[in-house]
Amino acid sequence: MKNQFVYTFEQFASLDELGEHDLHLLQMAQQASRLAYAPYSRFRVGAVARLVNGETLNGTNLENASFPAGICAERVLLSALSAIHPKEPIDTIAISYSGDDVESDHYIAPCGICRQSLVEYEQRLQHPIRLILGGLTGPVIVIDSVSFLLPLAFTNSSL
Ligand code: THU
Repeated sequence: MKNQFVYTFEQFASLDELGEHDLHLLQMAQQASRLAYAPYSRFRVGAVARLVNGETLNGTNLENASFPAGICAERVLLSALSAIHPKEPIDTIAISYSGDDVESDHYIAPCGICRQSLVEYEQRLQHPIRLILGGLTGPVIVIDSVSFLLPLAFTNSSL
């Protein structure tokens, strides 16, 4: 017997096709990326969460001269949220980036470690986390749950 994972996501040809609220959140992520501390990679990532209660919070990547000590924008965001709004579910996270050496003209998706953290956050607060992924220009994708990004995840029920 063969099994398969299948999921669908929305793809928009450009930012102009997004609804007003999603466009605003993605623009906030672009703005947030400019606040990142990323002197080593010069690749600045912004992740902005809109909570179910409507509040928003920023995360940016935070690098370090000891490279492995650096943290991605997504996990900076989750750490801040967990400290400030531990009980409030996340509705949507928009992720964008800007760089000295790259055009921000395509979307980026969270790295593997961040996927692991996002999946546990989603499960903990029992509310799907939507993702909006886009650059300053170019196509944008919207995924309805972070769990789609990590099939066969190792979770607390695996322990
Ligand atoms: N980075 C993020 O902040 N989020 C991601 O999803 C991928 C990568 C950061 C880590 C590092 O500071 C820089 O981007 C280059 O990898």
